Amino acid sequence: MQMNNSSPSPFAKRLQGKVAIVTGGASGIGESTVRLFTKHGAKVVIADVQDDQGASLCQELLSKPGNVVMYVHCDVTIDSDVQNVVDTTVSKYGKLDIMFNNAGISGDLDDTIMGSGLNNLKRVIEVNTFGSFLGAKHAARVMIPAKKGVILFTSSVSSVTAGYSSHAYTMSKHTVVGLMKNLCVELGQYGIRVNCVSPSPVATPLLVDAVGMEMKVVVEESLRASATLKGVMLTVEDVAEAALYLGSDEAKFVSGVNLVLDGGYSTTNLSFPTMLKSFGL
Ligand SMILES: NC(=O)c1ccc[n+]([C@@H]2O[C@H](COP(=O)([O-])OP(=O)(O)OC[C@H]3O[C@@H](n4cnc5c(N)ncnc54)[C@H](O)[C@@H]3O)[C@@H](O)[C@H]2O)c1
Repeated sequence: MQMNNSSPSPFAKRLQGKVAIVTGGASGIGESTVRLFTKHGAKVVIADVQDDQGASLCQELLSKPGNVVMYVHCDVTIDSDVQNVVDTTVSKYGKLDIMFNNAGISGDLDDTIMGSGLNNLKRVIEVNTFGSFLGAKHAARVMIPAKKGVILFTSSVSSVTAGYSSHAYTMSKHTVVGLMKNLCVELGQYGIRVNCVSPSPVATPLLVDAVGMEMKVVVEESLRASATLKGVMLTVEDVAEAALYLGSDEAKFVSGVNLVLDGGYSTTNLSFPTMLKSFGL
């Protein structure tokens, strides 16, 4: 019998040679994705409005040999900013393989129609919807002639589960999925894949700022208690892993998918069996 004493296989870099832009890359899910994409060999452009945070993440990653990372200020609601980040990326690295439209805001938390202000709706739609649209449009501009590319969006579990978030946020995240599906149809002829990741709540500055630090533990405990899948909590690294899969060639036939990361929560509705049990059935 032959003994297998070979050393463990080397770490496989799943995005070697790829060029990616991550909007909202300075914090939370975006930051985690920037780290993971870089680790997997991609040249990564961090696009955000938090300049200090983006630049310091960039510096930290550049201190490791082999990493290629750049920070570009980009407000995703401004057409010329999005055009600039895409053009800067292509002029510096020669192409754009992955556009991750991840930047987003929660807006006001009030989940009642009477408490929903029009200005809040406009701002949430401006960032989450228009920002995603502009990112996709400028990415498509350079991907169509190249006849390849991957466009990803961060939507939310609110795109598949009602009653979870404010009307503005829920509306905005539905629009992202609608755009993703339509683009999947239009851009398939150019070999461009288009997908979403849709996480359930995960502790990022977006969530903590929205609920307040003192409520973070309450939110996490409530998530744990209401979860369908027990024993694990969603992390930003899990979302980054999903984006890595969708961005990599391993997902070469995956397009038009809203990959929901909620441990099965959105498929669960225990109201009826719980009511039956309360009557002793
Ligand atoms: N955290 C959650 O519970 C959760 C759940 C589902 C979906 N999401 C979505 O994940 C995405 C990332 O959010 P996060 O949780 O990592 O929050 P976050 O606040 O940590 O990160 C969001 C980033 O987007 C940037 N950003 C905001 N407005 C921008 C603009 N106009 N232009 C460019 N950048 C802008 C912010 O500066 C920040 O760096 C968002 O689209 C959010 O809606 C978050």
